[in-house]
Amino acid sequence: MIKIDTPYDVNQVKTIYSYRESEAVRVCDIKRVSILGSTGSIGRNALDIALMHPEKFKITVLAAGNNVNLLAEQIKIFKPEIAVVLNERKADELKSILPSNSGIEIYWGDEGYKLAASHKSVDAVLLAMVGAAGLMPALAAIDAQKHIALANKETLVMAGELVMAKAAEKGVKIYPVDSEHSAIFQCIGEKVGQHFYANMDENNFNNSSNNPNKKNNNYVKKIFLTASGGPFRNTPFEKFKDIKPEHALNHPTWNMGSKITIDSATLMNKALEIVEAVRLFNVPVSDIEVIVHPQSIVHSMVGFNDGSIIAQMGLPDMKSAISYALSYPERLDLKIDFPDFATLGHLIFEKPDISKFPSLEFAVEACKQGGTLPAVMNAANEIAVNAFLNNEIDFPKIFTIIEKTMKMHRNIERHEDIIKESERNTISYTLDDVINADKWARETATSLKF
Ligand SMILES: NC(=O)c1ccc[n+]([C@@H]2O[C@H](COP(=O)([O-])OP(=O)(O)OC[C@H]3O[C@@H](n4cnc5c(N)ncnc54)[C@H](OP(=O)(O)O)[C@@H]3O)[C@@H](O)[C@H]2O)c1
Repeated sequence: MIKIDTPYDVNQVKTIYSYRESEAVRVCDIKRVSILGSTGSIGRNALDIALMHPEKFKITVLAAGNNVNLLAEQIKIFKPEIAVVLNERKADELKSILPSNSGIEIYWGDEGYKLAASHKSVDAVLLAMVGAAGLMPALAAIDAQKHIALANKETLVMAGELVMAKAAEKGVKIYPVDSEHSAIFQCIGEKVGQHFYANMDENNFNNSSNNPNKKNNNYVKKIFLTASGGPFRNTPFEKFKDIKPEHALNHPTWNMGSKITIDSATLMNKALEIVEAVRLFNVPVSDIEVIVHPQSIVHSMVGFNDGSIIAQMGLPDMKSAISYALSYPERLDLKIDFPDFATLGHLIFEKPDISKFPSLEFAVEACKQGGTLPAVMNAANEIAVNAFLNNEIDFPKIFTIIEKTMKMHRNIERHEDIIKESERNTISYTLDDVINADKWARETATSLKF
């Protein structure tokens, strides 16, 4: 964090949000932020927050994938120091759109994303790329000891133990952007009176290198992970084969990118979130209960040892969780309404139907076996979702591909039941094992498409 005059183009900010000039130019603490995935749903929400709070955030790095037109628009508004795109062709395309005097440095590919996550001009990194592509930049951000706001859940699913161990070693805090994990963090961190990130080392919470398999706190008894249930909650399984991408992309409560929207329809999103919660909060999978809550008002709940349950609520708007992850412990004014409880009348909770949505069982198995199996589950899901979006497979085949790939995998495992107490401080697989397992799972899942 540095103290500088806000370098915003005040006229630009004024045009967009009618800011009073006196507000926009005052001298204040500004967090310099890198956004990886700036053209996506999370990235765009984050940029809206930055525009609403120019006194808090200066965007110094923007990284996208293919959408250079939108990135160019963002560059014009936010004037970052560097921008990153998927490949050299996209970099050339971006250069051709931007004015020659833009002064921005443009990079591409894996090295570019790692640079975006670790650049010297950055205090905080929002990791909002989709899929496995997020892992290496996340590790680069940890290495560079940045404040991390993590939306890319795939990072923690693939290599959560390794990532959390590295974060603990480097003294880096990872703030969750996923609304459920933000909710859990808010319930645990704020209400128990022990801001667990502040006391991370004493509590060993969010610090799986110390003891990845055993709960280190004695007050959190249960995590109730809420799920909207997706658009097919009430669709009979026999009809699943008729589901087309356009049906599955129509999420009832959240407006998100296409991959996570399909994941929500299969409940694979919740499966990924189970693993994410196990890794992030260092709780055993048996302490996590998924509960379907179609209104998406309760974003998750935590049950404590005295029988109390604390829930975090709000309208489904990702800006809350994104801004909290970036500005913790401060809460920013986001002009978001409260739910109208009287109109809602009641909040609905249901048991998930595992016979229709086996995804949750995949996650439990992945957590129990650990090792490289979660990475395999994630990779098989990415291949299956892509195939479904390209109309190569039908909806139920997503489950078949993931299940078969997981069953075929020869795990480099660290099974919860068999691991010895003396071995609990070590992680018995490496990042290379994870990367190899990811590659193997992609090839295997691809071969299962037909
Ligand atoms: N959306 C939500 O409400 C939400 C909620 C919780 C968690 N998340 C998580 O946040 C992440 C982003 O979700 P999203 O909904 O924002 O996704 P999205 O709308 O699909 O956006 C994905 C972003 O990642 C970029 N990207 C895609 N593939 C890439 C690659 N191989 N290398 C580099 N960049 C790449 C895209 O760039 P281009 O568009 O320029 O190609 C885009 O900026 C996911 O991990 C998701 O699970 C999202």
